[in-house]
Amino acid sequence: MIDPNRPKEAWGSRLGVILAVMGSAVGLGNFLRFPGLAAQYEGGAFMIPYFISLLILGLPLAWVEWSLGRYGGLQGYNSTPGIYRAVWKNRIAPYCGVLAVVIPVMIYMYYVYIEGWCLAYSLRYLCGQMSFGDDPNAYAGFFGRFVGMNEDGFAMSSHGDWPFGSAVLFTAVCFAINFILIYRGLAKGIEWFCRWAMPLLVLCAIVILIRVLTLGTPDPKLPEQNLLNGLGYMWNIDMTGEKCWLSLCNPQMWLAAAGQIFFSLSVGFGIVITYASYMKKNDDIALSSLTASAGNEFCEVALGGMIIVPTGFVFLGQAFIENPPSTFSLGFVALPNIFNQMFLGQFIGFLFFFLLFLAAVTSSLSMLQPAIALLEEGLGLHRRASVALLGFITAVGAAFVVYFSKDLVALDTIDFWIGTFCIFVLATLQVILYGWVLGVDRGFEELQRGAEIRIPRFVKFIIKYVSPAYLLAIFALWTHQQFFATPDDPTQLTWTQRIQQSAVVQVTLAFIGVVMILFLLLIAQSVRRWRAMERAEKETAK
Ligand code: ALA
Repeated sequence: MIDPNRPKEAWGSRLGVILAVMGSAVGLGNFLRFPGLAAQYEGGAFMIPYFISLLILGLPLAWVEWSLGRYGGLQGYNSTPGIYRAVWKNRIAPYCGVLAVVIPVMIYMYYVYIEGWCLAYSLRYLCGQMSFGDDPNAYAGFFGRFVGMNEDGFAMSSHGDWPFGSAVLFTAVCFAINFILIYRGLAKGIEWFCRWAMPLLVLCAIVILIRVLTLGTPDPKLPEQNLLNGLGYMWNIDMTGEKCWLSLCNPQMWLAAAGQIFFSLSVGFGIVITYASYMKKNDDIALSSLTASAGNEFCEVALGGMIIVPTGFVFLGQAFIENPPSTFSLGFVALPNIFNQMFLGQFIGFLFFFLLFLAAVTSSLSMLQPAIALLEEGLGLHRRASVALLGFITAVGAAFVVYFSKDLVALDTIDFWIGTFCIFVLATLQVILYGWVLGVDRGFEELQRGAEIRIPRFVKFIIKYVSPAYLLAIFALWTHQQFFATPDDPTQLTWTQRIQQSAVVQVTLAFIGVVMILFLLLIAQSVRRWRAMERAEKETAK
């Protein structure tokens, strides 16, 4: 069903769409989340479940989303609720698409905050304001104050060296950059930005990698902490060691690897499906999807992992990187401390946080497009109105995350429930929709039309049976571990305990519920409008 009054958006070029999808995928997940997980789960051992998840879940799901997206796009839909409606002729189909809009919108609410930290850190490096001496606590103290770790509301104001001490100001700047680009549209905003940001960020990463590969043994008193051992830690699989087998038997590592693949490729987010809906009927999607995924893996494993894991290893040792004090401490506390000890460290620090900033913007931009598509094609809003409405909703959400900054509880809660739990649910839903509702043969036909590579036929079998079974198995294990199993570390609370004990967790969950209901109402209104238009079309045809 095509709304004749809606201006049709399209990608400018094939390279542009590949860079945009790659830009969506390459983000903080590649340079902060992946190295953190690889270090935590013994480097080499983590790569086994990681590559299995890439082959069984990541690549097939990327093809699923590209195919579903183009299929829906050809029927006039760009929003996931609309695309689901085109694929599945059932009244509830569009409502199933709520997750594909809420997931990116809510991830954006905390992602833009971290993006603000990256921008602030890179500018501080540029102005020579990131050196706090040799004391590691000084770096932790700065980070804690900057993001308001000790007190709710603390990050809402500036502390000390204005403007650099104000996390909220940098978040607001990033927020504005994202919305200006989104306002410019698909080709002039997203594609234009990704076209120059992606090569630039890869260039920055290669310069940093060269510096890392020349680190040698920075402290002669600790000869074991040398570059070769650091690279070995990242790549070697010690199949003879008991530790490696213990890791491989740990379901948590398999779950973390699968979650990382989703987060990193931006699949199960609702983003790729929206981007693919702007493709033309005979455009290649099979090779484009593979190219974007391969580009993401290069940035993640060959750049992100190879930069951070060996650097952390040679300066801080294996024990530290395996067990960092908190999620962000490796990137925002330990690395600045390391850069301070390194030759050319201030320049490398600037490049590193600047590349993080670029990677974050190319990803956060993509998180806004699914909701923009819904507001425009569902409610018939023009660009200015859709951007203003989404700007208001995400500003409230980002303010919520920035306000509840104590121990980053709101950020953590949204990241877990939306950025992990809901992604699993949506990925499962989409693979079932493709394999069992649209039908794997029809889906494959869509994937192969215009394709410049032939996808082997066994991929059909993987999509129809293996991926859903693997997803459901992981999901069951994960639910058991999160809610019922006793944690290995008794100081670590389960989510059931966290919900019972923390008012902020409860408020955050209520907030997620409100956003979910709001988008369900918007979808209901869109469905009413689409039906009315279809009735009018039928009347005219008579
Ligand atoms: N795919 C994006 C990232 O890795 C969300 O950060």
